Amino acid sequence: MTEPANTYALSGRTALVTGGSRGIGRGIAIGLARCGANVAVNYREAAGAAAQVVTEIERFGRKGVALRADVTDPRAVDRMLTEMESAVGPAEILVNNAGVVRRTPFLEIPQEEWTVVLETNLHAAFLVGQAVARRMVKHRVRGRIINISSTSARIAGPNLTPYCVSKAGVTMLTKQMALELAEHGIQVNEVNPGLIETDMTHAYIQNEANRQLRLGRIPLKRIGEPADVVGAVLFLASRDAGLMTGASVFVDGGVTVW
Ligand SMILES: NC(=O)c1ccc[n+]([C@@H]2O[C@H](COP(=O)([O-])OP(=O)(O)OC[C@H]3O[C@@H](n4cnc5c(N)ncnc54)[C@H](OP(=O)(O)O)[C@@H]3O)[C@@H](O)[C@H]2O)c1
Repeated sequence: MTEPANTYALSGRTALVTGGSRGIGRGIAIGLARCGANVAVNYREAAGAAAQVVTEIERFGRKGVALRADVTDPRAVDRMLTEMESAVGPAEILVNNAGVVRRTPFLEIPQEEWTVVLETNLHAAFLVGQAVARRMVKHRVRGRIINISSTSARIAGPNLTPYCVSKAGVTMLTKQMALELAEHGIQVNEVNPGLIETDMTHAYIQNEANRQLRLGRIPLKRIGEPADVVGAVLFLASRDAGLMTGASVFVDGGVTVW
């Protein structure tokens, strides 16, 4: 899979990618820089990986900054946005990408697991989305917010109850935000990837039985890689998506045709 072409002009725009240190978020952060944006790369623990993403961003001649913050913590989010404003300017594009998965049979899910998945995948998308949208309104920025949801928003999966519920929540959060922020010129959409090979899924995919089971359900017969998701995000961040809001863009090899 080659990197997507630099089709969308985002020159001079400023973007924040949560969970930009690894996996899909890393690909998105670098893709945004390739299209001309200055990019703030949020991470929780992977400081070295985030610094490498910033180096990649700077290779395109753009400004980049790595910002440590646990996106489930409102005070950390507020500090992060203030730091971002002094380093690269206020966010005009937000990609709510940070996420976690836990795989546990329904009857065995401990409450802490439910909480951590819902807080990271759904609550944080609300927290960061609201905080950034408030700043967009204040600075009169006609911004773009792109939430990374999943095919799990639509399809139940074994041992994935909190994850699927969190992603279904992101779909309705996207629609609500789209509805209520339209009057401020802020467009909110989501991208729903299918199975993509990253640290989150590597061990699961390495299991041959899981791999064959999943491939059997994907019409295009391919497990994705982060680069597969990037183009959809760049499009939604671009002028070409000027009439889109509240939409779900599935990048899933056709798994949701069933
Ligand atoms: N991989 C897939 O098959 C797939 C499919 C559909 C949707 N998605 C979604 O795509 C997004 C990215 O997934 P991925 O596969 O790229 O995962 P990944 O490789 O595990 O990367 C997760 C990223 O999220 C960050 N993160 C996690 N919790 C955080 C927190 N509390 N605060 C700040 N950052 C946090 C991590 O930062 P640190 O490294 O610093 O901890 C890391 O950068 C997630 O929302 C996931 O649900 C993935």
